[in-house]
Amino acid sequence: MTRHLYVHLPFCAHRCGYCDFVTVVGRSGQHGAYVDALLRELALERELLAPELETVFLGGGTPTFTEPSALERLLCALPPAGELSIEANPETVTQELARALRRLGVNRVSLGVQSFRPHLLSALERVAQPDTVRRAFYHLRDAGFDNISFDLIYGIPGQSPSDLEADLGDALELGPEHLSCYELEAKPGTRFTHAHGDELVRQADAMETYFEIVVERLTSAGYRWYETANFCRTPDGADRPDLRARHNLAYWFGRDYLGLGIGAVSTVDGRRWRNTPRLPAYVTSLAGGLRPERELEPLSLDVRRRERVMLGLRLDEPLRVEGLGDVLDAAALDRLQRLGLVDRSGPTLALTRRGRMLGGGVTADLLA
Ligand SMILES: C[S@@+](CC[C@H](N)C(=O)[O-])C[C@H]1O[C@@H](n2cnc3c(N)ncnc32)[C@H](O)[C@@H]1O
Ligand code: SF4
Repeated sequence: MTRHLYVHLPFCAHRCGYCDFVTVVGRSGQHGAYVDALLRELALERELLAPELETVFLGGGTPTFTEPSALERLLCALPPAGELSIEANPETVTQELARALRRLGVNRVSLGVQSFRPHLLSALERVAQPDTVRRAFYHLRDAGFDNISFDLIYGIPGQSPSDLEADLGDALELGPEHLSCYELEAKPGTRFTHAHGDELVRQADAMETYFEIVVERLTSAGYRWYETANFCRTPDGADRPDLRARHNLAYWFGRDYLGLGIGAVSTVDGRRWRNTPRLPAYVTSLAGGLRPERELEPLSLDVRRRERVMLGLRLDEPLRVEGLGDVLDAAALDRLQRLGLVDRSGPTLALTRRGRMLGGGVTADLLA
């Protein structure tokens, strides 16, 4: 039975130039109807889910921009879970919202910080200023949140290595339990790419340096680099919590998950589907008691094994090779091991620190 649930809340106050997620601007009058549709989809798929879930993740869009009574209704109707995470944009986090999330059982907040430098926030077309981020963080702490994650982006037009150092310093000063640091991806042909073309090329050349800065700075500060882009605090003592993002770990370990909402992806029992990204079509189908339109993705055993390698090698834990069939290229494995990029010991495989710095390239070589 599926123990991981993703719920997509697509609404945003405005659209940031670099964003390629399934989002819908404004439409506060439609938030309630969308939540009705989500709850209908949940009821239709309920039998796929275990009675108690390990994780629920509310992602967006901007889940915390959802009209408060609709968000409350949703949170009250979701099945119980050990980890209940929500993505929040700093400008939406008031004292009232932080308290309400806590009261409604949310126990992890992922704050979309992106940067603490005003010129970079402005290049990204963000609403929040650095002080907005700090205020949001303190509201969450005051409300009792002891598991807060920051999203940071690097490779932003106008950024320099010292800007990134300063961003990491500002983040570390607040001391979140978890940090996700993403390389900026700019989709070709968008307004954003058009506006920042040459500068994006310059930034692309600096990505390796930025990645090294991120890993060096966060690991020196005592964070565990447990996944390519993810870091968590490692409290002393065996009785202290594991602060890795449990929901995302389920994806990286290749577990099944159910996704609800527009554009949401599900992988259950060897089948994968993606809901329509169109809001009106989604709401209309579910209002009529029907499942939304879905795109099915063929998921052969070979594809699943390859995904297992690609995702598993992002982690700092060794990957068990048993059951992977012949997707690994034995000659490439020997070569990469000689180069000190891969560590094969008995039934497990892992990238070395140097291999992890090179990231996806090494994994691509390993796949036959
Ligand atoms: C679902 S998104 C948005 C969450 C939230 N609405 C926000 O903007 O903070 C989750 C995270 O993905 C990252 N992200 C979004 N677009 C990206 C892009 N084009 N390149 C790299 N990271 C991106 C951001 O760090 C963001 O916080
Ligand atoms: S607020 Fe987040 S989800 Fe919405 S447009 Fe901006 S980056 Fe995308």
